[in-house]
Amino acid sequence: MYKLRTEKIKQIFDSISKEYDFLNRILTFGTDFKNKKEIAKLVKEKNPSKVLDIATGTADIPIILSEIYDCEITGVDISEKMISEGRKKVKSKNLYKQINLDIGNAERLKYNCNYFDVITICFGVRNFEYLERSLNEAYRVLKNSGILIIYETSKPENIIIRFLYYIFSTLFIPLMGLLFSKKPGAYFYLQISSKVFPSGRNFLKILSNVGFYDFEIREKLFGTLSIYVAKK
Ligand SMILES: C[S@@+](CC[C@H](N)C(=O)[O-])C[C@H]1O[C@@H](n2cnc3c(N)ncnc32)[C@H](O)[C@@H]1O
Repeated sequence: MYKLRTEKIKQIFDSISKEYDFLNRILTFGTDFKNKKEIAKLVKEKNPSKVLDIATGTADIPIILSEIYDCEITGVDISEKMISEGRKKVKSKNLYKQINLDIGNAERLKYNCNYFDVITICFGVRNFEYLERSLNEAYRVLKNSGILIIYETSKPENIIIRFLYYIFSTLFIPLMGLLFSKKPGAYFYLQISSKVFPSGRNFLKILSNVGFYDFEIREKLFGTLSIYVAKK
C-alpha cells in the first residue's frame, strides 16, 4: 500500500488547509456535502449523546451534526491548520458550545474506552500511516453496540467506470491542484492514495479483523465513493 509518514501527511494537509473545502467540493462534483448530510442522517437515527469525528479536517461533519439535540460533538485531527480552519467555521456559526475540536493522532486517542455512541471518519482512513492501529483506537473508544461510519474513495466494480475513474483521477485531480493550489504535489498524493487504498469487500475484511461486524456499504458517485457502516 502507498503510505506516507504521519508527519508528511500532516504537512500536506497543513499546506492545503485554506483551499481544502473549495477543492473538495470540486473533486467530488459537489456531491460531498450531500453525502455528508446522508451520514449525518445515519448518525441522527442512532440518537447519540456523544459523537467523535476522526480526521475531522475543517470540521464539516461536526458542523452538520450540530443540529442533533443535546449531543456532545468532538472532532480530532493531526493537522493544526485544518483544525484552525475548522475552529474559524465553528466560531462563525456560533457552535463552540456544542463542538470541541482537538489536535491529535488517530493512532493514540486521548478519550476513554467505550465513550462514544457513534464515530465517523470521512476521507481519513486512507491517510492513516497505521490503518489497523487507528481502527483499533476507534474500536476502543466506541461504546459496545456503537456505530462506526466511514466515508472514503473506492474503486468502482464496473470495469468501464473503473477505467474512466482511473483517467479522471490521474489527470483531473492533479490538474485541479495545478490550477487552484499553490501545492500541486499534495494533489498528486491524493490521487495516488485513492487508487491504492483497499475498498469494498477488501476494506470490510480489515474492519472485520479489528472486531467490527454487521456491515453495510452504500456506494456513491458510480462506486467511486463509499459509505461503510459497521457495528462494535
Ligand atoms: C482528506 S482530509 C478529510 C477531512 C474531513 N474529514 C472531510 O471529510 O472533509 C483528511 C484529514 O485526515 C487527517 N489525518 C491524516 N492522518 C491522520 C491521523 N493519523 N490522525 C488524525 N488525523 C489524520 C488530515 O490531517 C486531514 O485533515
